[in-house]
Amino acid sequence: MAHRICVLKGDGIGREVIPWAVEVLRASGPSWEFVEGEIGWECFQRRGTALPEETIAMLKSCAAALFGAVSSPSQKVPGYRSPIVALRREFNLYANLRPVLSAPVPASRPNIDMLIVRENTEGLYVQRERSDGETAIAERVITRAASERIGRLACELANRRRRHLTIVHKANILPETCGLFRQAVRSVAAGYPDLTIEEALVDTMALRLIRDPEHFDVVVTTNLFGDILSDEAAMLVGGLGLAPAGNIGEGMAIFEPVHGSAPDIAGKNIANPLAAILSAAMLLDYLGYEQAGNRVRAAVRACLEEGFLTPDLGGKCGTADVAKAVLDRIGHGG
Ligand code: NAI
Ligand code: MG
Repeated sequence: MAHRICVLKGDGIGREVIPWAVEVLRASGPSWEFVEGEIGWECFQRRGTALPEETIAMLKSCAAALFGAVSSPSQKVPGYRSPIVALRREFNLYANLRPVLSAPVPASRPNIDMLIVRENTEGLYVQRERSDGETAIAERVITRAASERIGRLACELANRRRRHLTIVHKANILPETCGLFRQAVRSVAAGYPDLTIEEALVDTMALRLIRDPEHFDVVVTTNLFGDILSDEAAMLVGGLGLAPAGNIGEGMAIFEPVHGSAPDIAGKNIANPLAAILSAAMLLDYLGYEQAGNRVRAAVRACLEEGFLTPDLGGKCGTADVAKAVLDRIGHGG
């Protein structure tokens, strides 16, 4: 049976890198049915919505999705809401998994193998802001249920890795919200006696990611902290051009490069396609094709070792050169 996959290219370089991620899936063995949905800023300008109902309906019929990126204005635009944040909420994609792995490129530090597990549905991303023009207030929502759920997933993942879990919070300043998160994760972790558990305040964590990133295995944290720390961590291992992510829920998952739509390089055939391709590898893992996922990751490593590098990694290759080199090294079928 073919797996139905929703392809959401979005804006900017999303349109350039996602087609290659689709090609990588095609070359990876399982049989697929791809359906394409509209999403993003360009869609909003054309249709007045960044996330049309038919895209949501299409997603409901799919096993998983590949998402590129969308452009979001940084000032308020009436009627516009970030569609990826809306999708995470609509499909209850409660976990954002961001692997951070050393890559064979000069820009990467060695011996890093970390998985950042970010709570993906609440925190400051509930987007409840208000302002009277003089004072602006944002609500930060933390629930025991969502904290326990993300904590349980982090513990399960740590159990399959080096069995080390770091809980990141700022409970010294935010004893209610961060305190609840910390306590909920700790209570779940008590059921995993094989794990070593430690805590880090988020500011110390930002420092330690630079000082001793090799130390970390699974890192679990709240939404905004996870967003910021995972961009920082991506820079340790080659940058946004190599950073994949998965938004995981129950019965749906959306895989996306960590990067945005990169308007500064869009349309120039220089966007690094590897973050999107590595996101496709995570999709393969998620559907149970871990060997195929490993084959994609090995092909990516081989390309990097052989010097197929886009300008963000100091090379001169174009998007298509790098993607084709990966496809050549995956081989077909299996
Ligand atoms: P960005 O990730 O788009 O770009 C940051 C920098 O990294 C830029 O210099 C860009 O050229 C470079 N870069 C990113 N991906 C690259 C790749 N694959 N290859 C080579 N270089 C790459 O973040 P920025 O500039 O802050 O945001 C641009 C737009 O993207 C904004 O409208 C923002 O709202 C949106 N965005 C969307 C996200 C999503 O849809 N999940 C996530 C982050 C930003
Ligand atoms: Mg981000």
